[in-house]
Amino acid sequence: LENGLARTPQMGWNDWNSFYCNVNETLIRQSADAMVSSGMAAAGYTYVNIDDCWSTMSRNSSGNLVPDPQKFPSGMKALADYVHSKGLKLGIYSSAGTTTCAGYPASLGHEQQDANLWASWGIDYLKYDNCGDHQGRNGQQRYTAMRDALAATGRPIVYSLCNWGQESVWTWGMPVGNSWRNTGDIGSNWNSIMGILDQQVGLDAYSGPGGWNDPDMLEVGVGSVTGTEGRAHFSLWSLLNAPLIAGNDIRTMSSDTRTILTNTEVIAVNQDWGGRQGHKISDNGNLEVWRKPMSNGSVAVVLLNRGTSTSTVSTTASALGLGSAASYSVRDLWAHTTSSSSATISASVPGHGAAMYIVTGGGIVTPTPTPTPTGTGGIR
Ligand code: GLA
Repeated sequence: LENGLARTPQMGWNDWNSFYCNVNETLIRQSADAMVSSGMAAAGYTYVNIDDCWSTMSRNSSGNLVPDPQKFPSGMKALADYVHSKGLKLGIYSSAGTTTCAGYPASLGHEQQDANLWASWGIDYLKYDNCGDHQGRNGQQRYTAMRDALAATGRPIVYSLCNWGQESVWTWGMPVGNSWRNTGDIGSNWNSIMGILDQQVGLDAYSGPGGWNDPDMLEVGVGSVTGTEGRAHFSLWSLLNAPLIAGNDIRTMSSDTRTILTNTEVIAVNQDWGGRQGHKISDNGNLEVWRKPMSNGSVAVVLLNRGTSTSTVSTTASALGLGSAASYSVRDLWAHTTSSSSATISASVPGHGAAMYIVTGGGIVTPTPTPTPTGTGGIR
C-alpha cells in the first residue's frame, strides 16, 4: 500500500500470543516501558499493539466503539499519549465483519466512524481481522473499504490485513494493505511454526516495500518454543521480510529471548530489500536451505534442520546465486564471527535449529529474479 508506511517490514509487539483477552492499559504501558528498557526500541521495534477484547460488548448511543472502562480506565487517548511519550506508536484491532473473533463489535459498515475515532485517539496501526458476518461482501471489498477510511482520516496508520490467506490475499494485498496474513493462526510450538513456514513457499513474488507477506506474529519465548527453536524462527521470519511483531511477555523475558529479539544483524536482513524476500532453494528430508538476496550484492542464507538430532546442512555459493570467487566471506549472524570459506557453505546445525549467514563474494549472478505475480496484484 502506497501510504508511505512499512517501507521496511513493521516491527513491534502485540499482546495476543501471550495474553489473549487479558489485555489492559497496565499491560500496554508496562510493555511500552519494557520495549525501551530491553533495548528492543533501539533495535527497531516501534509498534505496541492491542489485539482483540479491548472494547465493551456494544457501541454507545453515538454508534462509537467504547474501550472497556475496567481494562482501560484512563481511555485510549491517554494511553496513546503515554506510548508516544516513549517514542513508540500504538496499534489497535478490529475486524472486517460484524464482530471480532472474540465476539466484540467490529467495523464492517462502520469503517469511517471507527477510523475517525482511532485517529482522534492517536492510533498508529490497525490489525484488521476477518471474523463476524461479512454481509455478502468479499474480502477485497471489505478490506479496501477500511483502507479508504483510514486514508480519509489523514493520519498515517499502518494497515495490517488479517484474513488468514483467504481469497489468495497475496494476489490483491499490495494495493490494499501494508501486510497480509497468509495462514491461520500460529501456535507456540515448533510444529506450528514449521507448518506456517511450509505455506510461505511460492508467495515470495508478491511482497515488497509497502506490502509484506505476514506469516503471523512471533512465538519467540512463548509456550514450548526453546531458545534453539526461537533462533530458527527469528532467522526464518527475518529472511522472509516478515513483520517482526514479538508475541512474548517482554516485561519478564529471559536474557536468551531478549538476545534473540534484539539481534541487530538478523534484523538488518529483515529490513533490507534486495528485490525479493527469502525463499527456499532446496530441501533434503529435514534439511532445508533458504536464501535472500541482499541489496549490497551479498546473499543471506538460513540452513535449517527440522529433525531432532544435530546434522550438517550444506549449500554452495553457486546454489545461493553467487558468482565464482577464490573464497567467500561468511558472516555468522548468531555467533557474530566472520570466516572465509570455499564454495561449499555448511554448518553443523542442532535439531530444530538453524544457522544464519551472510555470504559475500563473486557477486549475485543468478539474477535476483522477482517472479511476476500471476494475480491481480496491481501497483506495488
Ligand atoms: C484471529 C487472529 C488472531 C487474533 C485473534 C483474536 O484468530 O488471527 O491473530 O487476533 O483472532 O481474537
